[in-house]
Amino acid sequence: MTKLYINPLPVRLWHWANAVLFIVLVVTGVQIRYLDLFDFMTFRNAVVVHNWVAFALIGNFFVWLLFYLFSDKNKAYHPEFNLLKLARACFAQMQYYGYGIFKGEHSPHHMDPYNKFNPLQRMLYQILMLFLLPLQFITGILMWDIKRFSGFVDMVGGVRVVDTIHVLIFIFFVFYLLIHPYLATLGHTPTAHIKAMITGYEDVEEETPSAVQATRATA
Ligand code: HEM
Repeated sequence: MTKLYINPLPVRLWHWANAVLFIVLVVTGVQIRYLDLFDFMTFRNAVVVHNWVAFALIGNFFVWLLFYLFSDKNKAYHPEFNLLKLARACFAQMQYYGYGIFKGEHSPHHMDPYNKFNPLQRMLYQILMLFLLPLQFITGILMWDIKRFSGFVDMVGGVRVVDTIHVLIFIFFVFYLLIHPYLATLGHTPTAHIKAMITGYEDVEEETPSAVQATRATA
């Protein structure tokens, strides 16, 4: 085993603050949207908490963004433009998650600090951090002060369109919150990735030269 410094401090601070704020936003969001079904708190309190926590989440997002903008570790988020290579790598990773993992095989992805995500994680995190999260911020801010932004809201199709986008992304996030912690337990031990998100260091199995050769031959 070797230890690799995978998650620098700003990423770890951003991540756990983000997770806590996210959970508060989901709970208050459910209360606001499904007023008839749930009664955790008053509608008014839910709106006030949701708004404050959302601004904290947006501020926190800039910790993540600024870190990656000024760090060469942002290679982990670079897209793969060779579609054939991408499709092969995704397929191998899906085979591993769906089958190989249950037979005790090793993940086809070999982690290093500049390439810490497997191809499926990389695509998911690109979509999440660079598209869905910013879109959720924008739709949220538009609805936060609908009068002030009424010109822009009308331009994009009205409140209903903005609200529908916000709720659809919210539903995606609810599923994400169920699946992501499970996927986070699929390191070489169930706690390996979680420990790495706390301490920064991930224990990585050393590859034998023959394993490296085999991986390169199939890449
Ligand atoms: C609440 C429980 C959560 C747990 C236990 C958890 C766990 C983890 C772990 C262990 C990792 C590193 C390994 C990996 O990539 O799988 C990670 C990465 C990540 N998580 Fe979470 N997470 C949680 C919530 C969230 C939420 C709510 C988000 C919403 C955006 C999120 C977004 C991310 C992103 C974008 C990364 C990659 C970060 C980077 O290195 O740039 N996580 N998470």
